[in-house]
Amino acid sequence: MNRGLLDIESISRQDIETILARSKTFQPAPGQPFKRTTILQGRSIVNLFFEASTRTRTSFEIAARRLGAEVLSITSSSSSVSKGESLVDTLNTLGAMRPDAIVMRHAASGAPHFLSRYLPVPIVNAGDGTHEHPTQALLDALTILDRRGTLEGLRVAIIGDIAHSRVARSNIFLLSKFGAQIVLCGPATLLPPQIGQIAPGIELTTDMEQAIRGADVIMMLRVQLERQNEAAFPAAEYFSFYGLRLEHIEAAKPNVIVMHPGPINRGREIASEVADSQRSAILNQVENGIAVRMAVLERVLAS
Ligand code: NCD
Repeated sequence: MNRGLLDIESISRQDIETILARSKTFQPAPGQPFKRTTILQGRSIVNLFFEASTRTRTSFEIAARRLGAEVLSITSSSSSVSKGESLVDTLNTLGAMRPDAIVMRHAASGAPHFLSRYLPVPIVNAGDGTHEHPTQALLDALTILDRRGTLEGLRVAIIGDIAHSRVARSNIFLLSKFGAQIVLCGPATLLPPQIGQIAPGIELTTDMEQAIRGADVIMMLRVQLERQNEAAFPAAEYFSFYGLRLEHIEAAKPNVIVMHPGPINRGREIASEVADSQRSAILNQVENGIAVRMAVLERVLAS
């Protein structure tokens, strides 16, 4: 059965390479508009977002339209979820309308995996709790490949709220399949030791300078206050210990790539001068999100 795209953990390096190669064909040439195709004409996709989203939801929507599909976006506040309907009932209702795929974001880790066992419709995970965000890792990989041509052997420092980050987890799964050297950094309360066991050789540190020394890629993460029940660190001091500033960039490789999945909090985890600098690939990530989601939707709907 076609289960869509639920996570990076369970897909092979070869599948990832196929998706990335196809994504490249959807990237616009410099200065050119995005390509439009009719590959998915007559197909319909429901975008179901139970959590806030700007980038991911619009990106999936645009990707579906550029492939010629019909797309309908539903957010939890505008659906009957706010009238007490359970997730299974909402999904069954939507499933009965026979969309060709459902793209979903949910606060519960594992929600798309659970639903994919009951629904005959393929599900694309657009972020489930603190678990995974597969298309984010794919678009991050594409962005690194655009600048470096390979992931093998690169030192990638992932910095911030590792504990609550589905972006970090999906990236760890992907990067470790490709032989990158992964360094995870954050305050001890946001750096669970078990996460270092996902793959051999992952380095964990609470020292930002150590994480960044010699880095080819710095991935900053937002502090996910919405997932923290109690303060994990003194908020006023976060930036001075874990905020990315210009002086850090000098300690990394000269052509270091600075990334962030967004939304960014300027002055909390990243200084404006860094976010807006030549080294920042943040808007390239957003742009690549569309190409990657076109490749993912095509793959899910074509099979
Ligand atoms: C991330 C998410 O929602 O997981 N954002 C995104 O999809 N680009 C990261 C975040 O919210 O901090």
